[in-house]
Amino acid sequence: MSNLTFNKIAGAGLATALAIVGLREVTTGLFSAEAPAKPGYLIEATIEGGEGAAAVDVIPDFGTVIPVADLKAGEAVFAKCQSCHNVANGGANGTGPNLWGVVGQKPGSHAGFAYSAAMTDFGTKQAVWDDAHMYEFLKAPQKYISGTKMSFVGLKKSEDRVNMIAYLRAQGGTLPLPIANPAAAAPAAAAPVAGAVPAAPAETPAAKPAA
Ligand code: HEC
Repeated sequence: MSNLTFNKIAGAGLATALAIVGLREVTTGLFSAEAPAKPGYLIEATIEGGEGAAAVDVIPDFGTVIPVADLKAGEAVFAKCQSCHNVANGGANGTGPNLWGVVGQKPGSHAGFAYSAAMTDFGTKQAVWDDAHMYEFLKAPQKYISGTKMSFVGLKKSEDRVNMIAYLRAQGGTLPLPIANPAAAAPAAAAPVAGAVPAAPAETPAAKPAA
């Protein structure tokens, strides 16, 4: 009698043990089901990084983009600079130097401004502020010139930087416009386009007589 009871109890115990094992498996299943979520997240991060990387790598052909840049938009973006800079001809230095004529000027050379050592050093390596150096500097000043005292986060958008450079060029800039050379900008992207251009006229004359 008591043996039977024991059997029942043992049976119940076994069932419980099985249920626990089952639960564990389910739980493990849940954990392993969570795992793919991580690569998914990583992929998203990669895409974000990719966009950032694209903004980093694709340097526009300034001879192409500067002449058609939006000066009004550049002036509007300058609102972000105004707490420290002005662009008036002969304007005073503030937290940052006066920026009249800065495009084409030696970095760190505006009269009467106490530049950081980092900026004056930069001026010994780079003769003048040109489009390309301005473009990189304005993207992330403190990353580009480590130790600069320009405490400004930077202009992330390529378009904002191009418009800003065009605007600054128009404020007493002395650097001549580079000659447009779209093929020189982003060679990787230009290559397939260059290949496609001769292909299209070749196909068009063939298609016309046939039609
Ligand atoms: C918080 C203040 C601040 C803001 C905002 C700021 N700057 Fe500056 N900027 C400075 C300072 C300070 C320097 C001098 C850096 C040094 O000596 O390291 C400087 C230097 C520069 C230089 C180099 C000037 C030269 O004579 O070589 C340029 C160009 C420039 N800034 C452009 C801009 C533009 C364009 C913006 C807006 C998009 C901007 N700055 C926003 C403070 C600022």
